[in-house]
Amino acid sequence: MTRAITLRSVGKTYGRASRAVDRFSLAVAPGEFLVLLGPSGCGKSTVLRMIAGLEDVTEGELLLDGEPANHLSPRERGMAMVFQNFALYPNMTTRANIGFPLKLENPRQDSAERVESTARMLGIESLLDRYPGQLSGGERQRVAMGRAISRHPSAFLMDEPLSNLDAKLRNHLRAEIAQLTAELGVTTVYVTHDQSEAMSLGDRVAVMRGGVLQQVSTPREVYALPENVFVAAFIGTPRISLLQAVVHAPLDGPMSIDLGRQRLALPEPLSPDHQLLRIQQGRPLIVGLRSEAVRIAPPSQARPGEVALSGIVEHAEYQGHEALVHLDTGSRPAVVPDLESARPRQAPRRRRAGGGVFERLRQRAGGSVAVLDKPVTDTEPYAVRGPDRPAVTSSDLVVRTGPDLRVRTGGQVPLLVDLAHLYVFDHSGRRICPLPRDVPGLDG
Ligand SMILES: Nc1ncnc2c1ncn2[C@@H]1O[C@H](COP(=O)(O)OP(=O)(O)O)[C@@H](O)[C@H]1O
Ligand SMILES: [Mg+2]
Repeated sequence: MTRAITLRSVGKTYGRASRAVDRFSLAVAPGEFLVLLGPSGCGKSTVLRMIAGLEDVTEGELLLDGEPANHLSPRERGMAMVFQNFALYPNMTTRANIGFPLKLENPRQDSAERVESTARMLGIESLLDRYPGQLSGGERQRVAMGRAISRHPSAFLMDEPLSNLDAKLRNHLRAEIAQLTAELGVTTVYVTHDQSEAMSLGDRVAVMRGGVLQQVSTPREVYALPENVFVAAFIGTPRISLLQAVVHAPLDGPMSIDLGRQRLALPEPLSPDHQLLRIQQGRPLIVGLRSEAVRIAPPSQARPGEVALSGIVEHAEYQGHEALVHLDTGSRPAVVPDLESARPRQAPRRRRAGGGVFERLRQRAGGSVAVLDKPVTDTEPYAVRGPDRPAVTSSDLVVRTGPDLRVRTGGQVPLLVDLAHLYVFDHSGRRICPLPRDVPGLDG
């Protein structure tokens, strides 16, 4: 029987150390595929192990199908775990490995048929008489999965089961896991630090940071409506560009967002989101721009809701179907602690003495570049040839373009920012904009 798993304000402290998990509340519905996502050390495995009964719950309550379960032994909970290290018995064949939990459960029962049907389901019938040493990594992980399934568990608990595999196999098995769990309809809690894995597998994704749950939502919603700057930065590739910003709301003029060297003018009449920004005037804020929220185009091509900005091309990553252009807009990137370890680090940002990017912008375009509140004019070239690429990138904005757009390193390009995709977070990191109803394409 598949189970509802509920955690009510659950906490975990190891010895006298600081808290690994803090006031964690979550309800997983029967048959749901829930992904626990977060950087290494944020408490994901601890939560999973408490659900399995492998760790005591220090405080709070665990319920299975609505019944208190803190005191139940792992076996009484009837869940199956799959770990990163496949942990097969090396001296047992695939057949014996898959059948082992069945033997434990009922030594006299003939498990042959259950083992065969499980192997069929996973496409490993031909491997039944091999030993783990004779299997590839992917095959071993399938056998581990088979061992978890054969017992018809009440829930699957998977802890980074694909982390040890190469990228191609990982994607392949990811699809298989999705299909398999959907077929079996068993409640699954799946731990990963890989946001793309989380997004592609989860019915819902629970994002954790430092032992604290940040947000639980559908993949679409954690992407489109991150509750805070941490979730915004953790979800999505390339990472959202985060810029330090201040709102200007003069009594006698249009409102704008100051990004340091340039400003985003907010068109009148203000949208309900942007009205909320008025009270933030003068306070330090963080603006978030995903790579698809900005395009390289002159102001004359602006659609309603798009405003102009400009940037200098630091470098472009050609990816075949698209290109990612790293730009320097002269703003200060906002730093979000705890993000690292799971994602590749961006090159460190170094400010040049004297003038910095603003001065370079001016020099390269012969002093005609508009920064601050002067718009870029249409007559300016897309790309001005500049000096060789600097050793250390100072890009603060990544823009996604078609693969055919030619940009030159060091060149200045006009940008259009889609305000409907503008994220604004307050100084504590909480999202202010957009309001839920203003996210295009998000239903429900
Ligand atoms: N058995 C343990 N004893 C002491 N501290 C632990 C133990 N297991 C985990 N921790 C600590 O608890 C925190 C959360 O760990 P873990 O749940 O393994 O994180 P994750 O799975 O997200 O990487 C970490 O700071 C880790 O060092
Ligand atoms: Mg872990």
